[in-house]
Amino acid sequence: MASTEDKAVDKENVSNWKDSIYNPRTGELLGRTASSWGLILLFYLIFYCFLAGMFALTMWVMLLTLDEYTPKYRDRVPHPGLVIRPNSVDIWVNISDPEKYKTAYVKPLESFLESYNDTEQEKNKLCFSGEYFEQEDNKMEKEACQFKRSLLSSCSGLSDTTFGYGEGQPCVLLKMNRIIGLKPRGEPYINCTAKRNVVQMSYFPTEGRFDKMYFPYYGKKAHGNYVQPLVAVKLLVSPEDYGTEMTIECRVDGSDIRNNDDRDKFLGRVTFRVKVFK
Ligand SMILES: *[C@@H]1O[C@H](CO)[C@@H](O)[C@H](O)[C@H]1NC(C)=O
Ligand SMILES: *[C@@H]1O[C@H](CO)[C@@H](O)[C@H](O)[C@H]1NC(C)=O
Ligand SMILES: *[C@@H]1O[C@H](CO)[C@@H](O)[C@H](O)[C@H]1NC(C)=O
Repeated sequence: MASTEDKAVDKENVSNWKDSIYNPRTGELLGRTASSWGLILLFYLIFYCFLAGMFALTMWVMLLTLDEYTPKYRDRVPHPGLVIRPNSVDIWVNISDPEKYKTAYVKPLESFLESYNDTEQEKNKLCFSGEYFEQEDNKMEKEACQFKRSLLSSCSGLSDTTFGYGEGQPCVLLKMNRIIGLKPRGEPYINCTAKRNVVQMSYFPTEGRFDKMYFPYYGKKAHGNYVQPLVAVKLLVSPEDYGTEMTIECRVDGSDIRNNDDRDKFLGRVTFRVKVFK
């Protein structure tokens, strides 16, 4: 007896379960009528359209407040890295092999200095030395201060076309990476020191100064003619030091530019090795 009763209960359960998916008597699908489903779909459609609309509206308002000439947020100005040209950590100069040092160092320096061509730079503004060259926000195209390569004197490649590599007293050019809005305090200058050895050096322009007039930089778009100020260091290697590897460290000193960060050894400083031989 008990077993037939169980079967009846089973049958009822199966039909209940089927009904919960689709109930032919009420026309309900998953417990809801077609109109109920329709209302739910309509609700979500309107809800998501509303969200998309809100998103588009905020994007539009935000884009309206952006100006492609001036970056909006620049309250925290990062510190610049210091880089050298020729772009090489090891500068090996064999005085007896002009082909080699010309390809490796003289040609790259020559092409690097093309944008500092005196005649080209005369088109730029002659600015006041020692003062930031700040320009009106409403001026779209910013003016650039001129930096003529002849300022680099015997490292300009003009009087000595081998930049000193031919006489075993190579020149290295230093520049700080462009940072929009950077205004270094104090009087930034390059100070190079040789570790272990003693190497005489001369700096161009005098005292290796980065003039304040080349700051601030306003960005690629607004400040198209901008050129970074350069400092040239001529390593006056004496013949007794031929064949010796010398490690030179250069830093930006005299300003608030960070030059002793433990984690980033290129922030405001750079290290390279030089070896001159015959
Ligand atoms: C320097 O260059 C000369 C000429 O090419 C070559 O004979 C000499 O071996 C080179 N010196 C060194 C140390 O490589
Ligand atoms: C500088 O540019 C002028 C013309 O633009 C050119 O005649 C001259 O040779 C260039 N000077 C150097 C050193 O490249
Ligand atoms: C250059 O740096 C060295 C060591 O960091 C320091 O002893 C020297 O006084 C500095 N020279 C100048 C001119 O700041």
